[in-house]
Amino acid sequence: MDTLWKGKEKAHDATHFQDLDPPITYRSILSANLGVRDPLRVIALCDSDAFYAACEMVRLNILDKPLVVLQWALLIAVNYEARKFGITRMMPLKEAKERCPGLIVVHVATYKEGEPEPGYWENPDTKTHKVSLDLYRRESIKVLHVYKEGLPENTEIEKASIDEAFFDLTRPVRQILLHRFPYLAQPPDDAPDGLDTPLPAPPDLSWHQASTVIPIDPRAEDIEAVQFSPQTWHDVALSIGAELMHQVRQEIKMKLNYTTSAGIARNKFLAKLCASHRKPMGQTILRNASIPNYLLGLPFQKIRFLGGKLGVALADEFDVSSVAELLPISLESMQQRFGEESIWVYQVLRGIDYTEVKAKSALNKSMLAAKNLPTPITNIADGYQWIRVLAAELALRLTEARETTPSLWPKTIVLHARNILDRDGRKSKQAPWPFVREVTVDVVAGAANKLWREFCDARAPMKVTGVSLGFTGIEGVETGLKRLDAFLKKPSSKREFDEAEDCTSAEKPVSTRGNSFVCKRCGHKATLSPSATRSDAEREEALSKLRLEHEDFHVALELSRVPEVDAAARPAKRRKKKDEGIAKFFTRDSRDA
Ligand code: CTP
Ligand code: CA
Ligand code: CA
Repeated sequence: MDTLWKGKEKAHDATHFQDLDPPITYRSILSANLGVRDPLRVIALCDSDAFYAACEMVRLNILDKPLVVLQWALLIAVNYEARKFGITRMMPLKEAKERCPGLIVVHVATYKEGEPEPGYWENPDTKTHKVSLDLYRRESIKVLHVYKEGLPENTEIEKASIDEAFFDLTRPVRQILLHRFPYLAQPPDDAPDGLDTPLPAPPDLSWHQASTVIPIDPRAEDIEAVQFSPQTWHDVALSIGAELMHQVRQEIKMKLNYTTSAGIARNKFLAKLCASHRKPMGQTILRNASIPNYLLGLPFQKIRFLGGKLGVALADEFDVSSVAELLPISLESMQQRFGEESIWVYQVLRGIDYTEVKAKSALNKSMLAAKNLPTPITNIADGYQWIRVLAAELALRLTEARETTPSLWPKTIVLHARNILDRDGRKSKQAPWPFVREVTVDVVAGAANKLWREFCDARAPMKVTGVSLGFTGIEGVETGLKRLDAFLKKPSSKREFDEAEDCTSAEKPVSTRGNSFVCKRCGHKATLSPSATRSDAEREEALSKLRLEHEDFHVALELSRVPEVDAAARPAKRRKKKDEGIAKFFTRDSRDA
């Protein structure tokens, strides 16, 4: 594809971008193994516009008015109406109000001591309140559901942060492609290389109407002529991907009233990069032919993961600031300085990114409520009020999560605190979490208070500037049972759960009556689904199956109490690995939880 290298001056060496023009053959389109090197790969990233502000607009039913979301004194989200006044995130509120006198200012919801739920209080104060992002988390899940329902089933979806998700559209796009162009399904009889014959050129098509297509050479005079026709089958695939994204984005607008923007390209980092090209309510296609010029003009810090410490280190080491300046640096010298893994950087500069789009486990394995304390806690008694605030948040979040997955069950409750007068600084205490159906503030605070007392040493001075309370090892009971099943299949010498077995066999845990039984230990009542055709014997059998399942649950529960190294106790080991190579330059974005 010679248009790829057509620039006014030959600003770059085409050899850097060879990967962008792979042969596309009958074998590629028919291949069942659609890996990350698929020449017809289509990846999208969709990001919600001014997300927190949008959530507040929907909640308050305010549309088309300038609105900002405040967290204490900081503007954390600015809707697009307010951006028209030049208001930006992190601008002092005073200045924002001067720029736009009619500005609607919403402070994020906060937990207040003594209140079980977050609310929008007047004059919340960081000394007495704690920020709650629950509304945004909830809305984020709703958006994700619409993506899942709206896109073809074989789309892989990965939630990437509170307001964005990646989509691997390769499979659904491939299906549509073969459906629209059935002649691609089989090489013609006279094809010289059979399945390895390149596909014929695609017919004259136009790009998906509602998308912006990044030009191949923004400086060219004949932009229209060059760019407004998909010239490769990958272009056609991107355009079909754009149709799918456009449709699902409209559904989000219709069902939830949120607007979003999307980027569609050959891989994740490029999709993310071009998603912000046209905001709000826009979507952008970055075709392979446009990648070289698009990347070359870019300060490389704009690239996902190169914006942080790694970007700074690269700029320092090689005294460069743009992708164009980094390109001549050989893979060897990069690896010498930044370790093996810097091949990732080397590839990204060439438009390559083999990172998979992978659905994360539906369950968040942990939940954490944290608070930095503007007024440090200096004695045990003063800690309880904050513990209660954190407990309220955790109780609410778990209860909410159980609305979608009723069997959710955390294994451990963990309290972390930072005592700046203690040489060891940050410490944590943890305890197994009992299975309680109703996770109330009182239950959580009760357990947390105990941990707090363990943390506090009455003889030592304390100045605690931060506390957090969390659940870890959250699983659906089903998962626990599956693990149990695997465990029980091990040879008995390997089992170490005698105590747990005793628990279920020493006493008769259940009593049976009619179609149901009540567990004496936990009060759980299990009832058989009504069936007109069941005989007494079948009923007995079904009941005993239910009973066994319930007993398994107790065994699983007891097993969970065998102390296990949990996430909180693991950082030392992890850090070691992280410090190697380029890994140490990555800092986790707290919003990517
Ligand atoms: N956010 C935050 N602190 C930051 C960055 C972001 O609290 N330093 C919150 C914002 O309030 C935002 C949400 O995370 O609404 C998503 O962030 P982002 O997508 O970066 O910005 P948006 O506000 O959604 O704006 P845009 O339309 O530009 O995506
Ligand atoms: Ca956003
Ligand atoms: Ca975002």
